[in-house]
Order: sequence, then structure tokens, then C-alpha cells
Amino acid sequence: MAASPFHLGWFLGNSYGVHGWNQEWGGADGDDWTQPALHIDLARALERACFDYLLLEDSLFVPDNYGGSMEFYLARALRAPKNDPLPLVPLLAQATTHLGIVPTISTSFYPPFLLARLIATLDLMSKGRVGCNFVTSTGERAAQNFGLEAHLEHDLRYEMAEEFVDLVIRLWESWEADAIVQDREAGVFVDHRKVHTVDFKGRFFASRGPLNTARPAQGRPVLVQAGGSPQGRAFAARHMDSVIVAVSSIAEMKEFRGDMRRRLAAQGRDPESCKILYVASPTLGETNEEARARSDRRQAQREQFPAVTLAMMGSLTDIDFSTFDLDTPLGELSTNGQQGTLKRFLAQGRTLREIAANYRYGYEDLVGTPEHVAGAMAEVMQEVGGDGFVFTGPLTRRYLAEITDGVVPILQRRGLVRTAYAHRHFRDNLFAY
Ligand SMILES: Cc1cc2nc3c(=O)[nH]c(=O)nc-3n(C[C@H](O)[C@H](O)[C@H](O)COP(=O)(O)O)c2cc1C
Repeated sequence: MAASPFHLGWFLGNSYGVHGWNQEWGGADGDDWTQPALHIDLARALERACFDYLLLEDSLFVPDNYGGSMEFYLARALRAPKNDPLPLVPLLAQATTHLGIVPTISTSFYPPFLLARLIATLDLMSKGRVGCNFVTSTGERAAQNFGLEAHLEHDLRYEMAEEFVDLVIRLWESWEADAIVQDREAGVFVDHRKVHTVDFKGRFFASRGPLNTARPAQGRPVLVQAGGSPQGRAFAARHMDSVIVAVSSIAEMKEFRGDMRRRLAAQGRDPESCKILYVASPTLGETNEEARARSDRRQAQREQFPAVTLAMMGSLTDIDFSTFDLDTPLGELSTNGQQGTLKRFLAQGRTLREIAANYRYGYEDLVGTPEHVAGAMAEVMQEVGGDGFVFTGPLTRRYLAEITDGVVPILQRRGLVRTAYAHRHFRDNLFAY
């Protein structure tokens, strides 16, 4: 039996140019990384390949979690510098017509009213093509950038996030869909009877409302999140339209999907009402042998420079892994940062050297020609049950083309991904199948 059609997204970590700055084949030069052009190329290529969405990652600090210094991160442009993703959204929307655009915002540091208004504005401007990736934000340094001495506790952040999203949705709904009447004869632009206060008084947030702009074009812009801890999954099950999951095996994908669908049903939701997309980084080649050689080189780099993996993980968990011996078995570790991510990381081996060598941020067992990788993706989906992939990786124009011009046309020929958008709105396309 063939796999059912599935969805595609792109997870843009760091900025396009920064992430590719020292790569061969199209890394960024000079101030390219600050310019919209590379990102517009990316968005157009994804739209040509009929992707559902482009998710723009974000974080709010310069890490200094490895060796107690910013040097390791800044020298390699790891996680900083990073421009605010929000100003890119209208530029990308202007350059495309159907692609969904999903900026990341922090529920711990953004005021809900401002966020509701910002996303509503972008959704109106783009005629219904915006989503929002809600993160609770990790990093003591992020908290300190907002005047806190220490970060709020992990589970408390999720309680805030629940309330944040509740309030944002109510603000979006504070204008009825037909509130704008533009009745020239009566001299009425908005029917005031269709605009309502929300009078929200929660534990963390309060807002009177209504929003001072109209209801978003989609009614509810697409809600996305990526936390993998039990609290993160519970948060997703209440409101999210899509979840992205960074796991490296089919067994983990199945576990996640089964668990999420149970949680959705327990919330009284249709399990099909939340699209679960898996982070994937394929390695392509002219031949399967060439692709395997590329993949082997990537693995050799990983083994030669474990510090890069450890520094990245340190910035997500506030743990300085430079203080541990690489070859001594690790004890228990806990974090107030990304708990789901740390748990997966520690499960990869006994010592830090083993862990760093084995750790994958997403699914990487997609190595070969475009034909081979497309086939492997279909097999994964058939086994897991749905709903698709979000590609990620150090981004160059070459890597982008390998996927959008190499793999995707084959998936399209096999009827596994869409060949045209059926709807104007991002939400309608995401739920079209
Ligand atoms: C694939 C993926 C992408 C994420 N993107 C971001 C991001 O852009 N910014 C951010 O602050 N956190 C990001 N996160 C973190 C989560 O959204 C979440 O806040 C964090 O993992 C803590 O949740 P947990 O303890 O439930 O795993 C990402 C996590 C994953 C797995």
C-alpha cells in the first residue's frame, strides 16, 4: 500500500546566510545574511515546490554556556548573530502567494495583546498566510535580557503559555467576522455591535480588549509549537494546528504520534486536527555511494569536533558541557531549559563523546539519490502514519535546490505531496488533506 499524501515545511534555524556562511556552494558573503534576498530566494523555492510552510526560528540571547564565554558561539556564528524574524514576514509574504509563513515568538517575554495585534496585522496584510510558533524560551541569559535574575521554572512557563494562547485567541475573536460593513450610505465603517471586549483576567495576564484591528483573515492564524516534554505535548494538544518534532528514529516518531493523537482525543479534538511534522536533514548525491560518502564526512566531522554539538546542546539546556570529561560515564542531569531535548540527548550513549557522536537533531537516515530519498521518505510515512516532514540543516542554495528541485518533484510524481495549492489560506491548505 502506498503512503498517503503528506505535508512539507522548512525549519530555518539561525539566519539563512549566517547558518551557511562557511559552507561551500552558496554560503553568504559580507552582509548577505542581513539582507532579505537570500530569504526571499528560500521562500520562492519552497513555494515553487508547494511547501505548506516556512518556520522561522528565534531566540533572545547570545549564549555563553560553553566554557563560560561567548567566544565559542560568536566565533562560529552559532545561535548569534540573529536578526528578529518578524520584519522578514511581510517581505516574504510580498514575494510569494501561497506559502505559509510562521515566525517564532516567546510566550514568556512578549505581551499577548501586542502579539495578537502583530499576528492579526500580518495575517490581514498577507491575506491569510501567517502562523505563529509559540515557544516558552529557554536560556537564563534570555530571562536576564528581560530583567529577570533567573528564568521562570519550566512547568510554570507552560502554564503561562496556555494562558497566553487562550488570551491571544480571544483577542482575535473579539471582532466578529462581519464586523467591517463599510456602509457608505449609513456612514458606518465598523458595526460596533460586532466588536466585543474580552475582559480577560488570568493568573499571569489580563487584557480588556477588544483588539484594535480587525479579525485575522484566517480567523485563527495557524498555531504551531515544538516542545517535546509532557508539558509541551499537553500544550500542543489543547490548541495547536501543527507540531514539529525533532527525533531521529521511526520508533520515536511512532511513539510521538501515538501519544499526541491520544492527547488530542482526550481534549475532545479530532486527531487529524493537528499536523505532526518531523524534522529531517537528508544527504543527497548523484549516486547513493556519493551521498553515503558525504554523510560519512559529516559524521567524521561530528566525531572530530564534539564541542560543536556540546555547545549547541549547552545553549538549549544551560549546562556547560565543557566542564565534564568526555570519556567518563555521565550521571543524571536536569535542566530548566529544553527538557524533551536533553532527555533525548542523554539517551544516546554513556559518555559525552558517545552521545555527541550519536546525537541527531531530527531524522538523518535519508541518504542517497533524490529517487532513493523520496522512496525512503514514503516508507517512513507509511510506517509512521503521517503527517510529513520539516527540512532543516546548514542552509545553502545547493542544499535548498537538492530538496526543492531534486527530491520534491519525485514525491510529486508519486502523488505523495501536492503539485498545486488548492486554497488561498495557509490553514485551508494545511488541512486540505
Ligand atoms: C524542532 C524544534 C524547534 C524549536 N524551535 C525553537 C525556537 O525557534 N525558539 C525557541 O526558543 N525554542 C524552540 N524550540 C524549543 C521548544 O519550542 C520548547 O520551548 C522547548 O523545547 C522546551 O520544551 P520542552 O521542555 O517541552 O522540550 C524548538 C524545539 C524543537 C524540538
